[in-house]
Amino acid sequence: MEQSMDEMINNLKSYLEYLKGMGIVSIPVSENIPEKDTQSKILTLAEIREELGDCKRCKLHRTRRTIVFGEGNEKATLMFIGEGPGYDEDVQGRPFVGRAGQLLTKIIESIHLAREEVYIANIIKCRPPQNRNPEPDEIQSCNPFLTKQIGAIRPKIICALGTFSAQTLLKTDTKITALRGKLYDLEGIKVIPTYHPAFLLRNPERKREVWEDMKKIDEWLNHPI
Ligand code: URA
Repeated sequence: MEQSMDEMINNLKSYLEYLKGMGIVSIPVSENIPEKDTQSKILTLAEIREELGDCKRCKLHRTRRTIVFGEGNEKATLMFIGEGPGYDEDVQGRPFVGRAGQLLTKIIESIHLAREEVYIANIIKCRPPQNRNPEPDEIQSCNPFLTKQIGAIRPKIICALGTFSAQTLLKTDTKITALRGKLYDLEGIKVIPTYHPAFLLRNPERKREVWEDMKKIDEWLNHPI
């Protein structure tokens, strides 16, 4: 039966009220993250890595040592997405292995999870020279691969670490201070932005807010809303 325009608007309003009641405050424009149980072909992480190859899609390939693809549990319910590799990650080819990474490991363990149980990735997979901020064309070149990784894992929750991660995933330029601690929806996956561990190393007094965000994540993982 066809719905009238009024009915459609009322249904949409009720749905948005329902999401608001669950604590979801924004729905970003579609990212086309492949869904499980649909026709769209979901690649495995190994297949996505193979497709990425010896990537030269953006200028960062000229200065990087290694591609930092991401690591962790392919069936993780919780995924962390940072900004991009730094010096240590570029040398080792693994995400979050430097000082910020050690702090991230402690943050993960604060909710009684081991690092191996979650999946850790970045918005960009190659280190920018002198750790400068990622540029829009670099983020754009890398994004299809991150989107496929998210589709392969389909975690329940993504914790976006820092400004670049949160703004890229949520397609917004709102500041991280305003985004953090709130729940967003990315095609059925909950996204919670929090401060980047490197920011916490410079501003340890902000750690408490991250612990609070982690407590919410723990709650949502164990008592889904
Ligand atoms: N900072 C990031 O955003 N990602 C890493 O992998 C390391 C440091």
